[in-house]
Amino acid sequence: MKIHVFDTSEQLDRFAADLFIDLIKSKPDAVLGLATGSTPVGIYAKIVEQAKQQNISFGGVTTYNLDEYVGLTPDNDQSYAYYMNQHLFSHIDISPERTHLPNGMASDPQAECARYEAMLEERHADIQLLGLGHNGHIGFNEPDSALSAGTHVVKLKNETREANARFFASMDEVPAAAFTMGVGSILKANTILLVVRGAEKASIVKEALTGPVSTQVPASLLQTHPRVIVLLDREAGRML
Ligand code: GLP
Repeated sequence: MKIHVFDTSEQLDRFAADLFIDLIKSKPDAVLGLATGSTPVGIYAKIVEQAKQQNISFGGVTTYNLDEYVGLTPDNDQSYAYYMNQHLFSHIDISPERTHLPNGMASDPQAECARYEAMLEERHADIQLLGLGHNGHIGFNEPDSALSAGTHVVKLKNETREANARFFASMDEVPAAAFTMGVGSILKANTILLVVRGAEKASIVKEALTGPVSTQVPASLLQTHPRVIVLLDREAGRML
């Protein structure tokens, strides 16, 4: 595991964006595992900027997102499909057929999980971007006595709904469940890029990276992966 701590958000964003841009330059048909939340926003902005400046095409790139809320349509501005269009897809030349998220409106959730997992089985991500939840979740894999390996529907913990309520008009509007890739699907990526910002995540960063590997801290399972790059701002890294 390589850990980089940055003095400024700008430096972190630039470093992360360069990893993606360099990958696409050397492998135009790269597979990217993508994440949402506030953490990657600046990284996507830098990727867009660099793609324009360096005239990088995303025409051959395929993407798979980690998760999506159950019950939100892609045109709901809180859905992760909407987020991805807003922050990345609408600014690059990627073809919509090559971008994938679980369908939050699927009428048969089990069939939707199987469909998504079958796609992930076919092509593993060259690089998987991850944020970190306050309770150590990755994607929406919440702390539990056991974790699911593959794509599944998860009931969101209250602490997660509360943490994400800032994006919604009220707590009542925060969905109660989500589709998420499983930890097994996440760990299949060739390289994992975990990005964490902010003092309030310093203790969970320490637990996840240096504590015991435990399903009660899903991000701690990343310790078992051979190629993890961790990008932290000073505040998130202050307890290491
Ligand atoms: C959500 C997402 C995660 C994300 C986490 C942290 O729950 N499902 O993928 O990493 O929130 O979000 P933020 O970056 O906004 O702190």
